[in-house]
Amino acid sequence: MAVEDTFVMVKPDGVRRGLVGEVVGRMERKGLTLEHIRQLTISEETAGRHYAEHTDKPFFGDLIEFITSGPVVAMWWSGESAVSVARTLMGPTNPAEAPPGTIRGDYGLIVTENIVHGSDSPESAQRELDIFFHQQRRGD
Ligand code: RTP
Ligand code: MG
Repeated sequence: MAVEDTFVMVKPDGVRRGLVGEVVGRMERKGLTLEHIRQLTISEETAGRHYAEHTDKPFFGDLIEFITSGPVVAMWWSGESAVSVARTLMGPTNPAEAPPGTIRGDYGLIVTENIVHGSDSPESAQRELDIFFHQQRRGD
């Protein structure tokens, strides 16, 4: 049990479809705390840093093309077990297999366009928050 920080991002498909409020509302109602939020269009360089672990994957090209295809909404959330709690609200990576009641299960269909990103560990969260919120501190 520990208060954690996590990085959550509404991907370009989620922004295009007007699902920002849906994602924010679910996280808020769960009890997580929104520390910072900003909209931006990610550069190829930032996309490559963010998804560095997937550089050698066959889907890397599609992933970078998609994530840079329009504005995203980057968020810093905190709370008890925030990393795993956010991932639970999102659901499994493939929306076709995600159960109803999760964000991906309720709104997604194909794996590339799965609406939302969430850090997969506290270490990933610190790395990703440093990419998107390097000038901010919690609670500022
Ligand atoms: P994310 O990093 O976006 O939160 O998603 P995740 O942890 O659930 O999944 P991850 O394994 O980190 O994959 C990152 C993103 O790459 C796309 N993907 N495409 N075509 C494919 O087989 C495939 N596999 C993964 C997804 O958009 C996934 O969110
Ligand atoms: Mg991931």
